[in-house]
Amino acid sequence: MAFGPDDLLQAARHAALGAYARYSRFRVGAAVLADGRLHTGCNVEIASYGLTICAERVAVFRAVADGARTIEAVAVACIDADPAADPGSLTPCGACRQVMAEFAAADMLVHIDRMGSFRLLDLLPNAFVLRQASM
Ligand code: THU
Repeated sequence: MAFGPDDLLQAARHAALGAYARYSRFRVGAAVLADGRLHTGCNVEIASYGLTICAERVAVFRAVADGARTIEAVAVACIDADPAADPGSLTPCGACRQVMAEFAAADMLVHIDRMGSFRLLDLLPNAFVLRQASM
């Protein structure tokens, strides 16, 4: 079965229901398509706040742990964002964009619930890539 943007968004919204967001009460879900399979994640918050991990990174890391090395699409759903909120409360954070860039082509689409679809390249121009001079 082929997964389209609506399937990914639905999976991301559903994954958000599993969020452990007892401090912010801001639940986020993500779905990653890789090797024809969907991998989902939710945010997990820790009392020592800096240890919290975003939904997108959980989903990407699950895909990688399952053997994927290239991700083909991502969907994100911030189901507790204020309907009147500015787009900034709907989009993936910078750290998650860099993590996506590690495993994605620059033109991979990121489907953002209630916002639209964006190329990773447009969300994170000039992503950091490690190229070392040969010694
Ligand atoms: N959060 C995500 O899961 N993804 C993002 O891209 C931005 C923020 C989570 C982290 C934290 O649990 C909550 O949203 C509030 O910042």
